[in-house]
Amino acid sequence: MIKIAPSILSANFAKLGEEVKEVEAAGAELIHIDVMDGHFVPNITMGPIVVEALRPITDLPLDVHLMIENPDAYIEQFAKAGADLISVHVEACRHLHRTIQLIRSFGVKPGVVLNPHTPIESIQHILEDVDFVLFMTVNPGFGGQKFIESVVPKIAALSKIIKERNLNVEIEIDGGITAQTIGVCAKAGATMFVAGSAIYNQENRANALQQIKAAGLA
Ligand code: DX5
Ligand code: ZN
Repeated sequence: MIKIAPSILSANFAKLGEEVKEVEAAGAELIHIDVMDGHFVPNITMGPIVVEALRPITDLPLDVHLMIENPDAYIEQFAKAGADLISVHVEACRHLHRTIQLIRSFGVKPGVVLNPHTPIESIQHILEDVDFVLFMTVNPGFGGQKFIESVVPKIAALSKIIKERNLNVEIEIDGGITAQTIGVCAKAGATMFVAGSAIYNQENRANALQQIKAAGLA
């Protein structure tokens, strides 16, 4: 099972509703929303009002990726705005367990995100508490960057741990995902894939999405 989560970071913000509907019709499983604060990452994007505006536009789960300092202060707002999944960076959370419980307390699926250099040992003791782990395969901050291949062994290693411990944790990959890069991640055990530029920067988005999904299943 492969789930594709188009990242609206690469969409046309002047017509965001249509952009979301287009990828939903094309077979997307989730909508990925990149929240950046200009502190944790060197870019500023969108806040809860965008989640709230998109909520009535689509039936798909809204996958909110928080690339912000002090995520605890904003989780309630994103949950009430309609987020279905919220992921936080291990590098931004001083009390990760508390943050994960806070996300769950609003009925939202919690995920933890690892930057490319962050070892999986940092999340060994939170795996029982999360619904998914998101591996960054670019340095967070911008769409359209090149896939960092050296993350793949981390994906495989975590996948092995999840199986050994018989946990119900999904693996999501974010950054540089294309029809060329998805396969190696799927083989390593990932099932959810964010794709921004590889879908939204293409003339035929439906075709691009289906090609990425097919490559992930191959
Ligand atoms: C990067 C974001 C990604 C980004 C992916 O910091 O977290 O979700 O939109 O864009 P692509 O697929 O173009 O690498
Ligand atoms: Zn993202």
